[in-house]
Amino acid sequence: EKGTYAHFMLKEIDEQPLVVRNIISKYRNEAGEVELSEDIRNAILESDRIYIIAAGTSYHAGLVGKQLIENFAKIPVEVHVASEFSYNMPLLTEKPFFIYISQSGETADSRAVLVQTNEMGYKSLTVTNVPGSTLSREADYTLLLHAGPEIAVASTKAYTAQLAVLAILAADIAKAKGHSVGLDLTKELGIIANTMEVLCGQKEEMEKIAQEYLATTRNCFFIGRGVDFYVGLEGALKLKEISYIQAEGFAGGELKHGTIALIENGTPVIALATQAHVNLGIRGNMKEVVARGANPCTISMKGLEMEGDRFVIPAVHEMLSPLASVIPLQLISYYAALHRECDVDKPRNLAKSVTVE
Ligand code: M6R
Repeated sequence: EKGTYAHFMLKEIDEQPLVVRNIISKYRNEAGEVELSEDIRNAILESDRIYIIAAGTSYHAGLVGKQLIENFAKIPVEVHVASEFSYNMPLLTEKPFFIYISQSGETADSRAVLVQTNEMGYKSLTVTNVPGSTLSREADYTLLLHAGPEIAVASTKAYTAQLAVLAILAADIAKAKGHSVGLDLTKELGIIANTMEVLCGQKEEMEKIAQEYLATTRNCFFIGRGVDFYVGLEGALKLKEISYIQAEGFAGGELKHGTIALIENGTPVIALATQAHVNLGIRGNMKEVVARGANPCTISMKGLEMEGDRFVIPAVHEMLSPLASVIPLQLISYYAALHRECDVDKPRNLAKSVTVE
């Protein structure tokens, strides 16, 4: 039930700190550290490459997951859109391991690939919010998101839950392989949950940003470098699906290869700046679009902020920043849709779970 909330989406955005805490408690061992079960760990350790298959928001979570797994666990990862994989299948390595990411566990495109990889005899894991779902039943292993039912069509808490679970997977495999990840994940996820709470408390500011930048615009661009690029893709999907504003996410450096032609006077460009090693690069991209008349909205992380930034997120571990930086984007989309009088929870032409290929 929605309780006092006008929409499920807002309720589910607000639930995110709780979901992360819930995940910590569900995945914690007796020593108080988050970890995987031994069977899943061993199956992943036996593989030489991970293939992540997903759609929509879950695909975006997969992109961040790739960064986490490659950085922490040092296993190569490929991320594929489920609907393309069957006929655009890459040459597989000798010992592939498949991870299906799906909130509902019912997405037909992802299931079609699972049926195929099962036939090929490859091991698989489903990361899902729904125990007993088709993808969970048909894969060898399941990791649950423990996010509670997600009702709004626009996925919010499932995305951050997917990131938290993928981080746990990445850190666990790293530990098993003897790689140091340079962070105490249980502690950092606790910090993330607290930060999420702070961000959820800043709704008025997000509403202002939505009004300032998105009240009448026809389009909006999201840019970022590194993991911020992936969060930008998710921000753009959120905005377009519920507010019907044409929104696209781009790698900061890619704009000048074509898309910059679309920048006009007043075009909103939302940049994420949460990664120290690319901070100057993304700032440079913002200068390029501002010079062409864009209305710049930079969302940076504390410690990397610069004059003129529109919003600063409290500092969290760089590798986990998507769990925090997506929240302002979710809220901005929510308020943009609200003010445009769109049906926030049930956007046109969309279903919560896409059960056709
Ligand atoms: O249930 P799934 O995670 O497999 O769903 C995948 C996509 O259909 C889903 O993420 C969709 O993109 C959402 N509406 C995004 O908010």
